[in-house]
Amino acid sequence: MKLPRVTLVSLLTDSIALKHLRVAGFRHAVVAAEYAYDLAKERNVCTDLATKAALLHDIGHTSWEKHGKWDFESYDYFDIHPIKGAERAHELLTLKGEHLGKAREIALAILFHSGSSPINTNLKLTPLQELVMEADDIDELDDGEHHNIEISLDDALDRLEILDNKVAKHLDDCNKECWDCRKGQV
Ligand SMILES: [Fe+2]
Ligand SMILES: [Fe+2]
Repeated sequence: MKLPRVTLVSLLTDSIALKHLRVAGFRHAVVAAEYAYDLAKERNVCTDLATKAALLHDIGHTSWEKHGKWDFESYDYFDIHPIKGAERAHELLTLKGEHLGKAREIALAILFHSGSSPINTNLKLTPLQELVMEADDIDELDDGEHHNIEISLDDALDRLEILDNKVAKHLDDCNKECWDCRKGQV
């Protein structure tokens, strides 16, 4: 069994991810990646791309506050975190040495992960993009509360290590050719 050349653990331990994923919460990122793995396996979508896009989907978050308090209503309407996130994730992935084709697919899935974003109007999503949006939605709570439930970084990394091994195993069993996977598919 061979791990992908960029692992989920190596992404979360990077200073860019640590700084920005903390804002939306490590728990939400990890849970979305776990859901994405299950959905990707079920739908025959690449688990490597799905878990990375889901882990990084909210890396574009900023502290959206009014009078020192999280302002969900304004955030929900005006925020552009899918755009910032796609850019940040792409930079992080290419810095880590991710295959450029994979980095592009992951960045696009992050760009289109929010159904309420005007970017998504009249858009036909790919299976990967749809799946990342769903993995995010499954964990959603009213008023953005899913961003406020915390787990420690150690717990997050333990769970990602398990997921990295599952992805490696899935890629071993996958028989499609795809970029540098040797096997795998979008
Ligand atoms: Fe989001
Ligand atoms: Fe999210």
